[in-house]
Amino acid sequence: NNNDNDNNNISSDLLTIATQRCSLIRASYEIVAEGDEYEELASQAILNGSLDDFMIDGNDENASWRLRLRQYGSMSANGKEKRYGKNMRSPLSQERYAVDEMKELFIQFGGEVNLKRPDCSLYLFEGLKGRKKKVLGRLLSKGPNTSLIAPKTRKCITNTPLCPIAAFNMCNLARVKGDTKILDPFAGSCAILLAAAMISPSCKTVGIEISHNGIVNRGDIINDFTSRNLTVPAAIIRGDSTNNTIRDMARAAVGGEFDL
Ligand SMILES: C[S@@+](CC[C@H](N)C(=O)[O-])C[C@H]1O[C@@H](n2cnc3c(N)ncnc32)[C@H](O)[C@@H]1O
Repeated sequence: NNNDNDNNNISSDLLTIATQRCSLIRASYEIVAEGDEYEELASQAILNGSLDDFMIDGNDENASWRLRLRQYGSMSANGKEKRYGKNMRSPLSQERYAVDEMKELFIQFGGEVNLKRPDCSLYLFEGLKGRKKKVLGRLLSKGPNTSLIAPKTRKCITNTPLCPIAAFNMCNLARVKGDTKILDPFAGSCAILLAAAMISPSCKTVGIEISHNGIVNRGDIINDFTSRNLTVPAAIIRGDSTNNTIRDMARAAVGGEFDL
């Protein structure tokens, strides 16, 4: 819902930002229309003006677009597995049928279809939990790509890397944002600092790790940041984080106290 004044709803801008930082959200969508028939969805979208941006003479008239169909739960013919997400089908023939039925809407779009990297991704959801009707949604944002920092893709290999989703969750719970100063006193391969850098490129991070480079290679860790275009830690200090001198060194690296 785009009504920012309604306290029961959050704005799509806020939802987009939240989605991009939270590894527990796969994607967020704005609901454009809901109905029993594809044609009805098209008529509603035309009437409520949610997609006016993409229409000829609209603000984004040259934006490319695509429509994808997602059938969940009992809608998915594969009846064994009832878990949402796992039991999802995207039958192409039905997708084409839907596009045809909704042509009244799509012929008004100014831009071209782009199946791979469209500016606007539209989705038809069927069989959503708690909703009997078909839903036309517009992708607002995808959640962070946590597999980008999966341990098996990294150069620094240790015995106890934290799983990326756990690293993201810790950063989310700690509300990493802006230029937060973060210390990981048991840094290891720096999974938490990698997640923090993905969430907020301007945060300042320091890791303390007791092991020498033969066990936890600092050069490899830096490479894991730079090869992903992520802001490198201000320092990865070798030492015991219970030692006051080491902790002073960590503070000096960020020019003051840590926020987290
Ligand atoms: C569970 S691992 C951390 C894993 C890390 N989150 C990662 O993703 O790789 C704990 C690390 O803390 C280090 N460590 C243990 N005691 C320490 C201390 N007193 N000071 C600094 N590092 C220490 C260990 O060498 C080990 O690499």
